[in-house]
Amino acid sequence: MGKKYLAIMASHRRNKFTEKYLDKYINELLEDGHEVEKINLVDYDIGFCKACGYCGKKYGECCIDDDMQVLYEKLRKYRNFIFASPVYFNTVSSRAKIFIDRCQMLYECKYNYKKPWAESCEKGEGIIISVAGACEYDNQFSGSEIILDAFFKNLDVEIKEHVKICKTDFE
Ligand SMILES: Cc1cc2nc3c(=O)[nH]c(=O)nc-3n(C[C@H](O)[C@H](O)[C@H](O)COP(=O)(O)O)c2cc1C
Repeated sequence: MGKKYLAIMASHRRNKFTEKYLDKYINELLEDGHEVEKINLVDYDIGFCKACGYCGKKYGECCIDDDMQVLYEKLRKYRNFIFASPVYFNTVSSRAKIFIDRCQMLYECKYNYKKPWAESCEKGEGIIISVAGACEYDNQFSGSEIILDAFFKNLDVEIKEHVKICKTDFE
């Protein structure tokens, strides 16, 4: 049976390498009968987590009233995710990191309130697409994998695949 995926595009640049590789991956999933909703973080106004502690006092709430509120609802609905980010200093983009930090709310739901945020407790899968400009070198993708593993854990999602693309700066 086909799965439903939420695809998150975290490059600052539209239609550049990260988005192109993500779209290629999405098309393959669609051809295989899966469903995919794609969101481009560039289209959302998301402020920094300021560590105010509000989500530690109110289950499932973040006091910052911005577009992240819409994205929380999407995260709640899906069990399968694709996260595509460029590699910046061996980790995800700043845009991705701002989004991930705002998922501290999900961390509190799971580990503090012990009532995870996802609508269903069905096991989910996470796919990472990391796009790097330089030729391959040690630890080029390590930071991205560590951060996204922590992000996915909040949603009870296990990494199924990490697609690693390099050398885009030579294309
Ligand atoms: C601030 C910055 C940091 C970067 N750091 C790395 C890096 O650590 N390793 C690497 O291989 N490429 C690095 N790159 C290159 C990008 O990963 C590459 O250009 C990628 O294609 C960007 O994704 P985009 O095409 O979707 O914008 C960096 C680029 C920028 C702008």
